[in-house]
Amino acid sequence: MLATKKIQVWPLFTLSFILSLNASAQNRLIINTDQGKTTISRHIYGHFAEHLGRNIYGGIWVGPDSKIPNEDGYRKDVMQALIDLEIPNLRWPGGCFADEYHWTDGIGNPADRPKMVNTHWGGVTEDNSFGTHEFLNFAKRIGTEPYITGNVGSGSVEEMSKWIEYINFDGVSPMADLRRRNGQEEPWNIKYWGVGNESWGCGGNMTPEYYANEYRRYATFARDYGGTKLYKIAGGANNFDYNWTEVLFKNIPLNMMDGYSLHYYTVTGTWENKGQATVFDKEEYLETLRKAARLDELLTRHSTIMDKYDPEKKVGIIFDEWGTWYQVEPGTNPGFLYQQNTMRDAHVAAISLNIFNKHAERVHMANLAQTVNVLQAIILTNETDMILTPTYHVFDLYKPHKDATLLPHHLVSEEVSFGKEKMEALNVSTSKSDDGTVNISIVNIHPDKKIALEVVLRGMEAKNVRAEIVTAPSIDSYNTFEKKNTVKKAEFKDFKLNKDNLTINLPANSVLMVRVK
Ligand code: AHR
Repeated sequence: MLATKKIQVWPLFTLSFILSLNASAQNRLIINTDQGKTTISRHIYGHFAEHLGRNIYGGIWVGPDSKIPNEDGYRKDVMQALIDLEIPNLRWPGGCFADEYHWTDGIGNPADRPKMVNTHWGGVTEDNSFGTHEFLNFAKRIGTEPYITGNVGSGSVEEMSKWIEYINFDGVSPMADLRRRNGQEEPWNIKYWGVGNESWGCGGNMTPEYYANEYRRYATFARDYGGTKLYKIAGGANNFDYNWTEVLFKNIPLNMMDGYSLHYYTVTGTWENKGQATVFDKEEYLETLRKAARLDELLTRHSTIMDKYDPEKKVGIIFDEWGTWYQVEPGTNPGFLYQQNTMRDAHVAAISLNIFNKHAERVHMANLAQTVNVLQAIILTNETDMILTPTYHVFDLYKPHKDATLLPHHLVSEEVSFGKEKMEALNVSTSKSDDGTVNISIVNIHPDKKIALEVVLRGMEAKNVRAEIVTAPSIDSYNTFEKKNTVKKAEFKDFKLNKDNLTINLPANSVLMVRVK
């Protein structure tokens, strides 16, 4: 039997009231400002510089005899940009390069250092002029923590063990004495140490069972010297290979590993036929952002497996490679992975950092791939000049989240869709600094629509709001050597505070950091 439907007639004013409620509820953020407990490690905002293309050579290092302004061989402009960004750590020497790098080739008089072929990246000759001393002293100059990945794939336990002794031992020993003879009296006392890289692929094509055993052997001889306890990082899974995580955690005792490395690249199209960095339509734009956001799923699922073996969350996820990977720029060496960087990359960076923050209980570090002239670089250089990419500006914008307390929030967002792609238009992360300031990073991915977001600040009396924005005329806007500031960071004022209610008018295609006190 059919039920009879009652038709209700709403008075006009009630109807418009309900409609206005729905409209405001469409984009709404509720923040519980008094409820956080997890610290967002500043190391989530880390970087990665491999011997690849013009990342080290031409990017960071030009050598002391170069015409490019340098300080003892380090490029001045790049060094200053990294100091300004306050990068918390820098991973080196790879990537795939790490598993064919023999550290003893990179010490001593540069003129006497043997040369090698960089077989992974363009088959170019590596002259080893940038080695252990050059890297560790660079890290010191820019005030960042070094993170070294040792060679498991083509190295030996002895080689890795001696490298650590060379770097960290204070007393009298063959390696510490060699270091002194090479001009470095004091040990560098470094903490972060990776045992191989992508051992499932370029690092040796190992099975998880084989790598787990190798890890135990290498980690045994990766000694702690003096007061420095090594933070040992096991090589993790290929993207969504959850079996690798399961096998490693089943076979490596928790007291032998501190960190577990994961990698994920955002590839538009397929590996074989990747999209271009600057030429894309709105549907492809959403495809990129949707794929970047899969980081959340990946972290959730690997964490769930880790929770089974490590319920106290002792082992941290070290997400030491992430970012976009497009076709190389036309006319450049395919092995150098040089790509431009648009507002789309700014959105990828912002969404990814929001996701890492969300998983801060497990994620202890993340490293964008890579620093200069490679993949989703923060800096691009030529022979005379340097540009900061949109991704650099997002890292700059997000500084307040470093070491702040993650705050729980609830976001309701409208959707944006083009072709077969659909996503929520807004993406958010919220934290609280030590001085009580609430930090809200917000991404409006909509290419053309300004969105009014209502923010409810529960548990605080807001008095003061400041905001900054990274935006540009279009989703494919980017900076060039001729026009360096098409995408930049600027002050933002289009918001209204009314007691614990804040309305922010988010421009289309923008990333914001709103700070409330
Ligand atoms: O970042 C480029 C390469 O991507 C790294 O060398 C490797 O680890 C990964 O496959």
